[in-house]
Amino acid sequence: MDPFESLPDREFYAPVFAPWLGWDDFGPIYRKAQPFTVVSPDRCWILYSLAQQAMQLDGNFYEAGVYRGGTAIILRDVILIGNRNGADKTLRLFDTFEGMPETDPDRDLHKPGDFSETFLDTVKTVLGDSDNIVFHPGLIPDTFAGLEDDRICFAHVDVDIYRSIQDCCEFIYPRLAPSGFMIFDDYGFPTCPGARQAVDEFFRDKPEVPLVLPTGQALVTRCA
Ligand SMILES: C[S@@+](CC[C@H](N)C(=O)[O-])C[C@H]1O[C@@H](n2cnc3c(N)ncnc32)[C@H](O)[C@@H]1O
Repeated sequence: MDPFESLPDREFYAPVFAPWLGWDDFGPIYRKAQPFTVVSPDRCWILYSLAQQAMQLDGNFYEAGVYRGGTAIILRDVILIGNRNGADKTLRLFDTFEGMPETDPDRDLHKPGDFSETFLDTVKTVLGDSDNIVFHPGLIPDTFAGLEDDRICFAHVDVDIYRSIQDCCEFIYPRLAPSGFMIFDDYGFPTCPGARQAVDEFFRDKPEVPLVLPTGQALVTRCA
């Protein structure tokens, strides 16, 4: 006998409420993203939740590290739904779309060319045509050029390696709106030691304290 049988959404308690199992509107959105992402459902849920809150803030959405476009699908759906309700956000997508650039063998375990099984044109087709989705193919930080006046409310930083994360922090953080989010996908992963080092070094002299999540991600919310 299940003592919680009559609990609403009982099937999502595993054992505590786990909406990343596909609860409510997240279910269909995640199912679209899943074939194109290496990011686990619990991390996708964090992105989905923060992205919805960021729709209330001033600025655009950035994703650094797109690969085959999976997590970008989640951000796209949040933005397009919000824009239909009166917001006007753009999703900017940054990747070489040819795999990892040079890595630092003293800090990173990834190798140049990892994640090269992707093609820009295929990712564009997967994400669909919209004026609110802009691709910036090429090497970060070169591809930030020309965006110096941009304001950012949400940044998913999923680039895995020390130098790329450092470059993202240096460009994105000063442009982050008050209460805006930077979420670092790889912070806690033993495969990405350079990620944690880059985040810790960058925020050492900042007022924000990166919040380490049980998912492996680290979240920074910009102080006002
Ligand atoms: C783990 S993958 C991203 C995963 C993706 N978010 C998903 O949903 O599966 C990391 C990506 O970061 C990209 N990357 C790392 N450093 C970069 C740099 N300096 N410039 C452009 N892309 C970079 C790689 O090309 C790779 O596609």
